[in-house]
Amino acid sequence: MRISVIGCGYLGAVHAACMAALGHDVVGYEIDETKAAVLALGDAPFYEPGLDELLRSSLATGRLAFSSKPEVLADAEVHFLCVGTPQKRGEFAADLSYVHAAVETLVEFLSPGDVVVGKSTVPVGTAESIRDMVSEAQPLAALAWNPEFLREGLAVKDTLAPDRLVYGLCPGGEGERARAALDAVYGPILAKGTPLVCTDLSTAQLVKVAANSFLATKISFINAMAELCEATGSDVVAVAEAIGYDPRIGRRFLNPGLGFGGGCLPKDIRAFMARAGELGVDQALSFLREVDAINIRRRTRMVDLAREECGGSIAGRRIAVLGAAFKPNSDDIRDSPALSVAEQMWLQGADVTVTDPAALDNARRKYPDLRFAETVQGAVRGAELVLLLTEWPEYVDLDPCDLKRFVARPRVLDGRNALDPEIWSRAGWSYRALGRTTTPADAQTWRAQRP
Ligand code: UDX
Repeated sequence: MRISVIGCGYLGAVHAACMAALGHDVVGYEIDETKAAVLALGDAPFYEPGLDELLRSSLATGRLAFSSKPEVLADAEVHFLCVGTPQKRGEFAADLSYVHAAVETLVEFLSPGDVVVGKSTVPVGTAESIRDMVSEAQPLAALAWNPEFLREGLAVKDTLAPDRLVYGLCPGGEGERARAALDAVYGPILAKGTPLVCTDLSTAQLVKVAANSFLATKISFINAMAELCEATGSDVVAVAEAIGYDPRIGRRFLNPGLGFGGGCLPKDIRAFMARAGELGVDQALSFLREVDAINIRRRTRMVDLAREECGGSIAGRRIAVLGAAFKPNSDDIRDSPALSVAEQMWLQGADVTVTDPAALDNARRKYPDLRFAETVQGAVRGAELVLLLTEWPEYVDLDPCDLKRFVARPRVLDGRNALDPEIWSRAGWSYRALGRTTTPADAQTWRAQRP
């Protein structure tokens, strides 16, 4: 198939490379010239394991190209919309200006029989308005919605071996044409037995935000249990493990800690709430407000814990923060819980140094006032308190005996419940974590400290 991918950010760049890897002729259209040029050289403009290799191998076959010239769209028969839908400034709703601008550009180049496929995460009802734009410009083109569920850090795998495919199709011949095109595009994936859900346009849009809302709810549920555990001296990790054995619940996405961040979950649940309000069913999603509130409270709790550890004030105290990315295996710092905590501590006068294996450049640009170190040793040297806030494997595997040599006081706060409390305690560290106590004595102290 001749495919265009419109918007080459996280979603589009990965989608373009993966579609070329499936054997299609793909052009990625990216409005940002520099980004298009970097991609054309086989370099991903962000950190995504496996993507550089895939870009280079696909570019070498001649089946993949990137351009900032919209004319390239004329050669494709299937067009994937992959532009971003960030949160509007000062509002919960999604900013759809990029989607509309992309469609306005695309419709100039549509031919009869072309299929336009939306992948961006949009408020329910957006696809219908895009369909109007498409059919007005080219009545013989078809529109479908095909949400993606890729996770940063696992984006290539999630695109080439997804858990499921979802097609949102229009009724009649338009839907049949779109389905045939999508089946051809995803032929090798479907051949592996990947489940396919075919539905209407509005359901397909809803599926994506429903999935992200469920994931966010699961994380906030276990973090609410963490708040309870802190009040009772219980262990939230054991709670997660024990309830996770129930297959109806499942252990995945029940990792308690600092909560969710990134470019998707926070803004998607907010946009979903805003859309529900517009539809007059805001009560149906009022629980998401609480999901959001629990999530944000974890960050404040982490700062409170740091203050408690420092005897009531962190002003002037040397604190090391391990992690800046919103999650491991990513350089994405959008709504990063780690940087939010680092910034709050800095605002309270702490002497904070942050390190991260991949996200330092992005973090420096967004938080010029924070101090950064290239290495863990550099960050923890002389620290009175070490905070693990993003669970990169290299941090989880740190040798606490070795690390102890660099710090002023061996005290660690595990914001991701990722370290082994026993190993760290045996190495002479004082260990505390969100929602978890290490010893009965600890529990007593925690209870005693509560008002
Ligand atoms: C998410 C969805 O998983 C994906 O399907 C969708 O397409 C885009 O949004 P992503 O933003 O890449 O993907 O990150 P994800 O792996 O879902 O993690 C989101 C956040 O939740 C991270 O900050 C992570 O640290 C946090 N998290 C995740 C937890 O706090 N606990 C968990 O158990 C799991």
